[in-house]
Amino acid sequence: ETTRLWGGRFSGGPAEALARLSVSVHFDWRLAPYDLAGSRAHARVLHRAGLLDATELDKMLHALDDLEQACADGRFTPTIDDEDVHTALERGLLERLGALGGKLRAGRSRNDQVATDLRLYLRDHARGVAKSLVDLAQALTDQAETHLGVPAPGMTHLQHAQPILFSHQLLAHVQSLLRDLDRLSDWDKRAAISPLGAGALAGSSLPLDPEAVAAELGFTNAAANSIDAVSDRDFAAEFLFVAALIGVHLSRLGEEFVLWTSQEFGWVTLDDAYATGSSIMPQKKNPDIAELSRGKSGRLIGHLSGLLATLKALPLAYDRDLQEDKEPVFDAVETLGLLLPALTGMVSTMRVHTDVLEASTPTGYALATDVAEWLVRKGVAFRDAHEIVGALVARCAKRGCELDDLTDDDLAEVSPHLDPSVRSVLSVDGALRARTTPGSTGPDAVAAQLKQVTTTIEKH
Ligand code: ARG
Repeated sequence: ETTRLWGGRFSGGPAEALARLSVSVHFDWRLAPYDLAGSRAHARVLHRAGLLDATELDKMLHALDDLEQACADGRFTPTIDDEDVHTALERGLLERLGALGGKLRAGRSRNDQVATDLRLYLRDHARGVAKSLVDLAQALTDQAETHLGVPAPGMTHLQHAQPILFSHQLLAHVQSLLRDLDRLSDWDKRAAISPLGAGALAGSSLPLDPEAVAAELGFTNAAANSIDAVSDRDFAAEFLFVAALIGVHLSRLGEEFVLWTSQEFGWVTLDDAYATGSSIMPQKKNPDIAELSRGKSGRLIGHLSGLLATLKALPLAYDRDLQEDKEPVFDAVETLGLLLPALTGMVSTMRVHTDVLEASTPTGYALATDVAEWLVRKGVAFRDAHEIVGALVARCAKRGCELDDLTDDDLAEVSPHLDPSVRSVLSVDGALRARTTPGSTGPDAVAAQLKQVTTTIEKH
């Protein structure tokens, strides 16, 4: 006996090959709690429309509750004969209610149901993603606060550029995560529209109340157009964009940890609990979490391009192609659910080698720009100052020394403007304290940023 949701006009059952291609219950079963919530709202609306009497409504709601419980504790599971989550749950309802269970399908279609379920699932899980993002932002901010005052080589082209505070670099990553949080709450405004009531595509001849259903399910409104309601997957694509961008941000953070924990940098050591070993080389301690952040961003980007390709040129309204929307969405949610807590643990337990950072910061002529700007304050045109400091660097490079190793005679030989008082900016500390613009790496600006970031995080 079959509980397929269609079949009246067919002379036999589906071919095995069709059934195997068509089945989605092995992944869309994740939608069961949301489908049941939609069913409860729909049952109430059918009652108000006079299509279920009070006793029937009561039995229906009881059966839905029991089914939900049975799903949660594993007493009810989908079988290979259930095409999708909707089919499986209708079977569960029929098992509990007999013929009465067949009344709930009035006025709705899997097309508006599945679009609703996926929105509910995503709005729910986006909150979990946001929470994990907050945790990571907090872990980075805590490390920034702990290491306030520790200098680091600021890099461009992965070469020493100018001294920065290590905290400034950590907080730069926090800024992108805070934008991601903002993107998630903005996304939710457009995701908060309920497709239920659209039916297959044209609405219903039954006196349903889509706005009441929308409100009951926590949506802000029902869809304004029933065709759009069942066709629109912008919310899934937009979510995947946000997920892909989060992935990109995590990959950049991950890459920096790969560098920082390398022998060559030696800035950071990972806690043993957040590093992995090698099956052959006993000495190895590898930053696998950081590498998986890099790697899994590729997968998240792929999900976005995959869904956009599915949607491209798809005629309205529902097409079965749309069944392909779910796996990328589920995988994006689950990938971030694995990645973010691991990164948070890695960041919050890392050990920062302050001595290495302090020794490394002034090297590579990192103070050259500070000398040039010192000359500018003396009235030298920047173009000339740039040339003068360039000549100083060339002298150092030839001699194999750093700028502050040059003698007063060296300085005077290169330019009469370079009197010994230039040594005030030939220190990392002086260079950092000279950075006073808002948003800069100067100690005051970084302290202000830390405050701002902390306040923003607290609001989430
Ligand atoms: N399982 C389908 C999906 O995920 C919903 C079923 C709609 N099927 C149909 N023939 N209209 O999109």
